[in-house]
Amino acid sequence: MAVSSSSVHVQNGVHAFQDKNRYQSGFGNEFASEALPNALPVGQNSPQRVPYNLYAEQVSGTAFTMPRGHNRRTWMYRIRPSVVHTPFVQIDNHLIRCTPFDEVPTSPNQLRWNPLPEPPAGTDFVNGIVTIGGNGDVTTHVGCAIHLYAANASMTDRFFYNADGEMLIVAQKGRHIFKTELGILEIQPSELCVIPRGIKFQVEVPDGEIRGYICENFGLTFRLPDLGPIGANGLAYPRDFLTPVAAFEEREGDFRVIAKFHGNLWEAKIDHSPLNVVAWHGNYAPYKYDLTKFQVINTVSFDHPDPSIFTVLTAPSEIHGTANVDFVIFPPRWMVAEHTFRPPWFHRNFMNEFMGLIYGVYDAKEEGFVPGGCSLHNCMSGHGPDTATYTKAINADLKPHYIDATLAFMFETRFAIKPTKFALETGMLQRDYFECWQGLRSTFDRTWKPETH
Ligand SMILES: [Fe+2]
Repeated sequence: MAVSSSSVHVQNGVHAFQDKNRYQSGFGNEFASEALPNALPVGQNSPQRVPYNLYAEQVSGTAFTMPRGHNRRTWMYRIRPSVVHTPFVQIDNHLIRCTPFDEVPTSPNQLRWNPLPEPPAGTDFVNGIVTIGGNGDVTTHVGCAIHLYAANASMTDRFFYNADGEMLIVAQKGRHIFKTELGILEIQPSELCVIPRGIKFQVEVPDGEIRGYICENFGLTFRLPDLGPIGANGLAYPRDFLTPVAAFEEREGDFRVIAKFHGNLWEAKIDHSPLNVVAWHGNYAPYKYDLTKFQVINTVSFDHPDPSIFTVLTAPSEIHGTANVDFVIFPPRWMVAEHTFRPPWFHRNFMNEFMGLIYGVYDAKEEGFVPGGCSLHNCMSGHGPDTATYTKAINADLKPHYIDATLAFMFETRFAIKPTKFALETGMLQRDYFECWQGLRSTFDRTWKPETH
């Protein structure tokens, strides 16, 4: 277990964050990091007295008895323990919604939305979250919620944690700085980060504006998919996942901790920054991943594989092979399939598909599905390329073709995603979405004969 260290400097009595670009590489590794030399206890987790007179605190992200390969816990050595705060009181959820997602009936219609508009000035990450839909039951750790967010103010005196699930955050606009209990992550569009259940954090907006998507996973933690016949290499490489090194602040004041707990927001007063972990070791920590590092596997003959070939992370359910939620991307790649309809085919699926577009043009929808927008195709609802894309594809002269400068993704989940009232009533909803397929007229020809060569 190698120990990484980062330095801090003292400014007006405040230990400021430094070394913003330092990370530890690997997925679910036993990381160890200290922001002051020798802060990590040697040889045991909770000595009678901790170096620097810190408090030892364990955070368990899984049940104690989870099999070792998926067991997640981290030991934190902090200035004050997490228990120190006043009682929580409930606050306004704004546009955050949670299970059972029964505000309005769920229809089988295909749905598509434009991006969130610019939020009012002073909107921070938490207040900028808008829930589009979700499924399952947060009280039994099943299902997920899907949110959009748009913010233009940094969090300064309040800190957030989510007891309901881990948050997979996909940046779509602007650089995001996540100051977490376990260190600092910076992401930009093309990158994601995952903040584990319970880990406190703040989001800063150095460019003045951020926008993106959140999959809030109530279930088992995201992990890398098995590779099966692909072999030992492929898709997302473990070494490309980056976890921050320890960084802390020693700051006192009139602050707030915001908790998302059983679907609601709660607030407690705290007289110090909870980002006060001087050293830590363990395998339960935030991480980030650059989607442009994904090794794409695709056909080199004909047809194309199911989109599961593009799975970055999967959160399994108790039914083997049926994910609570998968995170799948559609990155730049060569298309070389011969005598094949190359765009995504027409289909109806068991699984339920929420799609977003980070940048560029998606190859099944050249118009209407815009960066920052999203679409939803639930269980057995037909969808596929729009009329223009279909017509172009069946007449294309097939040559090797590079799909460039595009990055779409999908949150795919086993239960229907039930839209919120906001999602169905907002002006962002494209009420004419169904029109994009109405031009698919019958071209059936009873006199058709196979071509003879
Ligand atoms: Fe689909």
